[in-house]
Amino acid sequence: MTIYRPLSLIAELTYRCPLRCPYCSNPLNYGDNQYRQELSTEDWLRVIHQASNLGVLQLGLTGGEPLLRKDLELLVAAAAKAQLYTTLITAATLLTPERATQLRDAGLDHVQISIQDSRAAESDYIAGSRCFEQKLEAARLVKALGLPLTLNFVLHRQNLDRIEEILELCEVLKADRVELANTQYYGWAYRNRDVLLPTREQLKRADAAVAAARERNICPMGILYVLPDYYEDYPKACMGGWGHRAVVVAPNGDVLPCQAATSIPELEFVNVRNHSLDWIWFESPAFNRFRGTEWMPEPCQSCDRRGVDFGGCRCQALLLTNNAATTDPVCHLSPHHHLITTVTKQANQENLNSSPPLVYRSMSKSQFIAADRQ
Ligand code: SF4
Ligand code: FES
Repeated sequence: MTIYRPLSLIAELTYRCPLRCPYCSNPLNYGDNQYRQELSTEDWLRVIHQASNLGVLQLGLTGGEPLLRKDLELLVAAAAKAQLYTTLITAATLLTPERATQLRDAGLDHVQISIQDSRAAESDYIAGSRCFEQKLEAARLVKALGLPLTLNFVLHRQNLDRIEEILELCEVLKADRVELANTQYYGWAYRNRDVLLPTREQLKRADAAVAAARERNICPMGILYVLPDYYEDYPKACMGGWGHRAVVVAPNGDVLPCQAATSIPELEFVNVRNHSLDWIWFESPAFNRFRGTEWMPEPCQSCDRRGVDFGGCRCQALLLTNNAATTDPVCHLSPHHHLITTVTKQANQENLNSSPPLVYRSMSKSQFIAADRQ
């Protein structure tokens, strides 16, 4: 089997965050001791250097909220020196003019700001914090500094009906690129699936709105629109395939094939404090466990699409079937596909206004402060 080199490093600098989005991709146990021991600046500088030598071209600086790391400018400068294309992926509530200027001057290439809705009250409700106006201000700041701006909206049952307004906001803020990503249901989003899963009718209307915005060419670098995989016939090639194109480094230095991989109990992840990124990518058992197609069960093993979607998402397979090594139930050929259709059927029957309350991502204040002192 040919093992390709990774193109992207997703650096989860911290799991600390001032917001509490109920679809956060951080692990449910992100407040545990193991994640409070964040990598030092020296560790991250070494990781960036090793990633560049490994062939990585893009660096996503994310979290939690990456702006909570006081050494962010140093990491950006190191990445720029290593000729990596750097994207700051941020909720932007902490993006002051001073820091934004310093980051630009350090060589930051691109900023992606997440906004939760087109209206203040609705956006703040999902964020679990009053922050909508700060986000708009940060978006204007990024544009004023001449940095390319992506606006990211996670879509779901509670905001899909305002898709036109969301697209108008992108236009007003002069986003260079727009990412409209329907929620994917693992981690916190799985906990809130009943509240977040949209109806088929909502998705149909959203399709039309996105097509119209594309027609009007509202942003120069285009609109990425990701459907919720629960409504697809085939699963997505999660992360472009396990250990295929991207590598994630968690705040404590564990190296992961995807952001949710720690949910798979059979896997042990190696830490950048103990091994090089190169060794972990090519040799570590966790990266080789679901790499390629040989591990696949039927129906994937004899399916023409096995090299296209790699059997779907391992974390979703585990979550829904208790077995990470089975076909993603999203696939209509999976023996577990009924686990998806039962849920979508129910979502289409429920009254849109009768949702149970959201479970917000939460971390106790004492944990938050303790982590900040690392
Ligand atoms: Fe993909 Fe497996 Fe479904 Fe084929 S059977 S489409 S490889 S998930
Ligand atoms: Fe882990 Fe899809 S999120 S493989």
